[in-house]
Amino acid sequence: MIGALNHIAIAVPNLDEAMEKYAGPLGAKVGKPKDLIEHGVTVVFIDLPNTKIELISPLGKNSPILSFMKKNPAGGIHHICYEVESISNAISKLTKDGAMILGDSKPKIGAHGNPVIFLHPKDFNGTLIELEEVKS
Ligand code: CO
Repeated sequence: MIGALNHIAIAVPNLDEAMEKYAGPLGAKVGKPKDLIEHGVTVVFIDLPNTKIELISPLGKNSPILSFMKKNPAGGIHHICYEVESISNAISKLTKDGAMILGDSKPKIGAHGNPVIFLHPKDFNGTLIELEEVKS
């Protein structure tokens, strides 16, 4: 069901500093920050030849990544995102297989304007997984 790796998300305490590190020492092509109010994060994408890195930092007092930042004050890998052809097919398959979809099990619109869901890390070896519907 899953296709290409769309991105790896790294949570960072300071977005500007992280962007400078990627643009400077690592010499990467860093995009512009975007507030995702519904997800409680500010994101910046970094384009690599074969995938993307998503730098995320908390936005607002109820940001879902605040507890992660408390456990990982210097930042860390937060989730990985795989592409799927159909988010609704993915939801029905995962629900049937007993996997836990975070939130209300309904897709939200993600950073690229596509529907996304998140799967509970306890079902997948301690890794938070995002699935994004990407039409090929
Ligand atoms: Co993501």
